[in-house]
Formats: sequence, C-alpha cells, structure tokens
Amino acid sequence: MTPELGVCYYPEHWDEALWAEDAARMVATGISWVRIGEFAWSRLEPTSGSYDWAWLGRAIETLGAAGLKVVLGTPTATPPRWMLDRHPDMLALDADGRPRGFGSRRHYCFSHEGYLADCRRIVTALAKRYGANRHVAAWQTDNEYGCHDTTLSYSAAARDGFRNWLAQRYQSPDALNRAWGNVFWSMEYADFSEVGLPNLTVTEPNPAHAMDFRRYSSDMVVRFNRVQAEILRAHSDAPLIHNYMGNITDFDHFAVGADLDIASWDSYPLGFLLDRVDTGEAERRRYARQGDPDFQAFHHDLYRAVGGGRWWVMEQQPGPVNWAPWNPAPLPGMVRLWSLEAIAHGAEVVSYFRWRQAPFAQEQMHAGLLRPDSAPAPGLGEAAAVVEDITALGEVRQEEAPVALVFDYPSAWAWDIQPQGRDFSYLGLAFDAYRALRRAGLSVDILPPDTERLAGYPLVLIPGLFAWTDTLRAVVERHTGVVLAGPRTGSKTADFSIPVPLPPAMPGLDLTVTRVESLAPGIEIEIEGGGLVRRWFEHLEGPAPGLLRSAAGDVLAMEGKRAYLAGWLDAAGWDRAIGLAAGAAGLEVDPLPEGLRIRDCASHRFAFNYAPEPRSYNGRTLEPGGVAWWPR
Ligand code: GAL
Repeated sequence: MTPELGVCYYPEHWDEALWAEDAARMVATGISWVRIGEFAWSRLEPTSGSYDWAWLGRAIETLGAAGLKVVLGTPTATPPRWMLDRHPDMLALDADGRPRGFGSRRHYCFSHEGYLADCRRIVTALAKRYGANRHVAAWQTDNEYGCHDTTLSYSAAARDGFRNWLAQRYQSPDALNRAWGNVFWSMEYADFSEVGLPNLTVTEPNPAHAMDFRRYSSDMVVRFNRVQAEILRAHSDAPLIHNYMGNITDFDHFAVGADLDIASWDSYPLGFLLDRVDTGEAERRRYARQGDPDFQAFHHDLYRAVGGGRWWVMEQQPGPVNWAPWNPAPLPGMVRLWSLEAIAHGAEVVSYFRWRQAPFAQEQMHAGLLRPDSAPAPGLGEAAAVVEDITALGEVRQEEAPVALVFDYPSAWAWDIQPQGRDFSYLGLAFDAYRALRRAGLSVDILPPDTERLAGYPLVLIPGLFAWTDTLRAVVERHTGVVLAGPRTGSKTADFSIPVPLPPAMPGLDLTVTRVESLAPGIEIEIEGGGLVRRWFEHLEGPAPGLLRSAAGDVLAMEGKRAYLAGWLDAAGWDRAIGLAAGAAGLEVDPLPEGLRIRDCASHRFAFNYAPEPRSYNGRTLEPGGVAWWPR
C-alpha cells in the first residue's frame, strides 16, 4: 500500500472565489484527500426543513475537478440553533443535572429519539444527494464521538432508555436486584420504572448500577453511529469512517468500529502531552515540542485494531493548537515525524487539521497548513517533505507484531467507577505496559479481548482486565505462548462482584490474590534488584515462583508460560518484567536509547527520534525530530 496525505477543509468558512485556488495548492503540495462538511449543518439546512445544497455541490465539484478525493462528513456533531426549538430537551445533562448548552458543539444526548430522527433525516438527504457522486470517495460519521465528555448524559431521555435497556437485559427486577446485589443498603427495586440514573445519589452509587449505565451509554453511541452507517451504505459504496479522539474510552470503539470500514483518529501530540498524558513535569518539559514518544504509537496500534486493519489519521496537528493549557510550536521536523510514524504503523492516509487557520471563532489560535493570510505556515513545508518521503519509501506493508496487548473498554469504565486508589486508570496502566514494550524495541499489536487472533502471539499482555470472558479464558487455556496478566486482571465478575474462587483464576496458573492495597503518591515498594511498585499492590498466595520479589511479597510470579504481575510498576520495574516475559517467549529485546523508538513492519524498520538531542541507532545519527528507515 502506498500511503496518501489529506487535509481538513471548510469551504463554508471562505469566499467561494478561494476554493479553486485552495484546491490547486492542495494538489500542488501532493495532497490527495480533502475532508469537508462535518460541521456545516446550519448552512445545509438554514431553517428546519429547507435545504441549501447548491454551495456544497459546487465545493465538491471544485475540489473533485482539481483531482482531490472528498471525505464527506455527516454534520450531526453540530445541530443548528433551530434544532433546540424542535427538541428543547435534546441537550445532554451533566452528572450534576445541568444542561450542556448551545454555543459550541456536541450539544446533544445520544438517547434523544427526536434528535436521532432529525439525524436520520439529514444523513438520508445527504446520502441520497451525494451517495453516487464520483468525487465522494469516503464518508465520515459525525465527529469525535465522546469528545468534550459527551458520552454520558443524565437526561430524562437517557433515564427512560436505560430503564428499557435494563428490562431487556434482566427481564425481571428480581434478576437485576440479584445481579447488582441490591439487598445491600436496601436498594431493591420492585419495578424497572423505579430505577434512576447513577448520579445525584447521597454517596457513591452501586458500582454494578454505574457499570450498566456505562454499558448502556456505550450502546447508545453504537446505535447512533449504526443508524448513520446503514443509511450511508444504502446509498453509497464508498467506505465509512469515524474520527475517534485520543485518550477517550467512554464508549466501546471496537463496537462502533464493527459497523464501519476504516477507523481514524485525531492526533494532537503536543496538546495530548500537556492535557492527557500522565507523566511527570520533567518529561513534560523535555517533550514539550515533540509530544510523548509513545502516545501516538499507542493510538495508531489501537485504531489499527478498531478498523480491523484499515485506519487513518483524520486530523494531524500541523503547528500550535489552541485547546491545551499551553500551546507550544512543534520542533522543526516533528510534523513530518508524526506523519511518518503513522505511516510506519499502517496508516493509509494522514490528513492534516486544517488547511487554513481560521481568523474567527473558537479555533482562531489553532494553526493550519496556511496562515490566516493564506501564506504557507511551517506545517505546509513538512507535509510537502512527507510527500517526498512517501515516494522514497515505496510500498509500506504491515505484518503481525511479536507481542499482543489486550485492550478492553469495559475495563476502563470499571476502574473509573471503582479506582480504589485515586490515580488508578486503566488506560494509564495499559499505556505503561505499552511503553515498556516499546522501550524494549518491540513492535506491538493491540487487540480486543475476545479474539482468537491472540492465540498466534509469542507474548500476550493482559493488564487490568475487569472480567474474564469465556472466549478469552479459552484462548489463554490453549495458548502456547507466554501470557502475562495483572494487576487486577479477572478481579470481577461481569456483574461487578468479586469472584469466588478468588482472582485471578487464570488458566494454567495456580495463584490467588489474597488482598489488594492502593498506595498514595510517595508510598513505594522496592523490588529486590531494582524498580518500584507504586499506586497498586496485590498479595499473592500459591506455588508459582516469584521472579521479581519485594519485602512485601512477590511482584511477578511465573509458572511455565503463565505470569502474573502483582503491582503497578515504575519504568525500571516494567523494563525488568518485560525483559523476563519476552525472554520466556524467546523474543529478542533491544533496549533503545532514551527518546528513540522503532517500528517494524513487513517492508521496513523505522526509527524515530523524539529526544531533544541527537541519537544514534543502527549506524545512523538521528537529529531531534529525525526519522530513519531500512528496508527489511
Ligand atoms: C479535534 C476536532 C476538530 C478541531 C480540532 C482542534 O478534536 O475534531 O474539529 O476542533 O480538534 O485541534
């Protein structure tokens, strides 16, 4: 596959006289895809029921005539103001019961039937009109589901929908009471109509109640997307894509992805470093202009799985953004590095956000490839450099990685509901495991829990899994490679209770977690020989020998090819654990220079230097922001 570049464009923001010139400049840069339309509802349907398609038709024609392929977005992330007059109760309510009002975007509740009907209407109109258009080569549904904390809504629509969902799941209030353990604190219900949402309770709600609400809310996102996918498929053969947002785990991306053809995500490495990555101050300063060395790769690997192998970066940061606490400019070369790293992980398209910086409204401080005066911004030159790199690279082919990391969205909900220690985060734990694998020079496939594909990997990591499923248990039972699970893996039933026999009940490993403790910042357990346990520690019982030990008990126990990790480790501890597990799996570990990362695909080995100093690797010196590759 030869990767391609794209760009996000808003014809409705610019004088029509500029469109043809913009399109010609995109093509001259080497860009082949342009995404449009995803926020344009107020211009497509200025008043309820009266459409204006003419401008969009001319925009598609102008871009297409220049040789660009169009990704057409459905505009449902930005319902126009008149929509609120039609559905005054369509707004999501936050956990404190306050409406999330009009004046920005994503102001809708996924459970609202009336809004969903209007989405069906606009998507149908759009699909009928452009489904067979020769320039529309892909579709994007909505924009960044869940962004700005919009998956969960505590509205009346959500309450009613949740009750129906529970009635279908449990069939009788008795079954629900039993599953949730509602005898505790006399929380039993006599009828589904008595069940409320798990907010505004005096103290914490029952975790089983909260977990079912998270499942329900995720299902509502899946339903919302499926409605659009079915309509688009009925009118178009072009592939369907959604652009997920990094670090968002509030809905099951695998379940949404099952209804689409390609996954994409929006990659803002500098914004994420300051806003979302749990790293120390020193690291933040060190990587302020490069971004975290593993955060992008983690999401690339995650979305490759969500897309069933097919994935894009739909929005790539081109310069300073506007939404992080501070918004530095990338080091020269980083926009190119980020783009090539995505390509190394299998991206079919890397698309920049956005073409021209908008001088007005919320994102006026957000860079584009062009400045507001249409002169080139630094990102444009880097995009042009990537075009040359793509020619030099030739075909980039993927292969199965030697390591699989299981990632499970319900586990993220579970530990959000019951962290037990304030800083316990499922994504954080999975990400720490991923970083250690990368520091060891290993390429990684991220996979959902219920796939037979896991059986083919020499090393499988299952950190922090909420509940074993029958499929995953069966896979682990039969697996001939090494499986490293824990901490917290298999520590609940699907109903959010502690299973008996006690966890981890891992096939092939005679081991019991007898008690768990969370550790406040500054409280650490030293691992004999190097490394620390922080945040979380479990006390183990059983004959499995401890490969990493501490005065408080074994930290890593392993028997044959089954290993269990009893704590949340620091980097040094993780490096030792990964070294032991990879060694048992017969994998070669190649500890990398600080800040340097590699990615192996079938056709190339890539190296990326995130460090602010030059780094040597494999006979080459990489400047800060430098990229090197070797054919394999
Ligand atoms: C994304 C979003 C874009 C734009 C961008 C700014 O989250 O999809 O519409 O807001 O961030 O960085």
